[in-house]
Amino acid sequence: MEQIVILDFGSQFTQVIARRIRECHVYSTILRYDTPASTLAGLTPRGLILSGGPSSVYATEAPLPDGGIFDLGIPILGICYGVQLLTHFLGGKVESGQKREYGKGTLSVKDRSSALFANLPENLQIWNSHGDKLTRMPRGFKAVAASDNSEFAAIEDPARNFYGLQFHPEVAHTPRGREIIANFVHGICGCGQQWTMRHFADQAVEEIQAQIGGERVILGLSGGVDSSVAAALLHKAVGSRLTCIFVNNGLLRAGEAAVVREVFGRHFKIKLQYQNASRLFLGRLKGVTDPERKRKIIGKTFIQVFAQAARRAGRAKFLAQGTLYPDVIESVPIAGNPAALIKSHHNVGGLPKNLKFKLTEPLKCLFKDEVRQLGLELGLPKEILFRQPFPGPGLAVRILGAVTPKRCEILRAADSIVVEEMKASGWYYKIWQSFAVLLPVRSVGVMGDERTYENTIVIRAVESQDGMTADWAKLPYELLEKLSNRIINEVKGVNRVCLDISSKPPATIEWE
Ligand code: XMP
Repeated sequence: MEQIVILDFGSQFTQVIARRIRECHVYSTILRYDTPASTLAGLTPRGLILSGGPSSVYATEAPLPDGGIFDLGIPILGICYGVQLLTHFLGGKVESGQKREYGKGTLSVKDRSSALFANLPENLQIWNSHGDKLTRMPRGFKAVAASDNSEFAAIEDPARNFYGLQFHPEVAHTPRGREIIANFVHGICGCGQQWTMRHFADQAVEEIQAQIGGERVILGLSGGVDSSVAAALLHKAVGSRLTCIFVNNGLLRAGEAAVVREVFGRHFKIKLQYQNASRLFLGRLKGVTDPERKRKIIGKTFIQVFAQAARRAGRAKFLAQGTLYPDVIESVPIAGNPAALIKSHHNVGGLPKNLKFKLTEPLKCLFKDEVRQLGLELGLPKEILFRQPFPGPGLAVRILGAVTPKRCEILRAADSIVVEEMKASGWYYKIWQSFAVLLPVRSVGVMGDERTYENTIVIRAVESQDGMTADWAKLPYELLEKLSNRIINEVKGVNRVCLDISSKPPATIEWE
């Protein structure tokens, strides 16, 4: 299959370049920056992309490519550090910039005949992140676009098919960057649109089989998108040698355990070990009100229950995890590589490294929306693939104060009304998250002729791209009215419903 090779010089965006190429329906491979030119030639790629990176081409430890790549006769696109490499290797000049160019900028395309900018307007919003600056182009090159800070923001030698961009076309802050990459991949390298998620699935299955051999694998299924897709993929690769462990911690949403057992146990016929540890979790949480202690207890108990279940599952050598690219953001280990320092955020419900399993993480290079596409390809129901995120510690972080079976029941009932009405109104799939929170606050009300003194439910609904920042969702009054009426009428023990209108930051999405 036609492919583009990306040489990784340690940019935190290398995987984003790969993602953009997948969006063009073209296969791509990321290889180390120093992959020999002869190895590359053996792969017969249609084109080569040199990624960005944190180094300076003059630094003693600067990662440099095999100089032979410039004689392969294939198109090369250098991005950021990549264009500085092109310049350095082909006889131009790179100098340390007086001021670092970082953030948004404007590009003006000077040479409208450039294939890289075909069908794009003259002025483009771009995103920069570089210190060094190109001050003289190599022979044969011409400048085709300038930025506020550089007359060589885009350079090219179309005769040899060498192209360089000082800015980052792959990031979302360069809104038309994907078209620039598409111009390189289709227009310059001549790739068609052969690659699909099915190819990814087939290749992932082969890779998993090669890694696992005849061994057994276990996987902790949470019912969330990532572990569900990982389970379906692993099952396709190793069949009955996969055992999924599903722990019911007593803090799940209504119907959650039943859906997982139905989909994975009955429909996919995956070996599923269902561990109902509700009583153990709720017992240990008795009287605990501190949010951090709750999380710690749940995390520790989960590991114990999981480890026990794993032992029961037989002798598994591998542990599969549905880790996604944004969870790892890793790159080749290059000294001073900032990408190596960015680590995943808290994830209670995660497993420690010392469980003595070998890890297999088949979704590690995918982004969330790609995982959903893969899930569709594998036949998973939309209900699972497009569900909103649900935290590992579950309802415990949505019940403020002590967690008791009774309070779980109240929240579960209120929450299913929220989910039901959000789905019925079409809002559920439009926003990031929507759920109910139970406060440790009682207030006075009247019901019929009776005075009541009951619980308060808060509705939390947020819009967000990634959960890092969020804005409260502007749900229509009619929907809010319905939610409030139904919760107060149908959930025993609740007489007041409030709406959370805080954004993140400074508030968080969850209440604990
Ligand atoms: P916060 O409350 O930090 O939440 O604004 C951001 C996103 O992360 C989810 N979240 C968690 N997910 N384990 C998880 O797996 C956790 O401990 C956890 N805490 C928060 C939250 O639902 C939101 O989507």
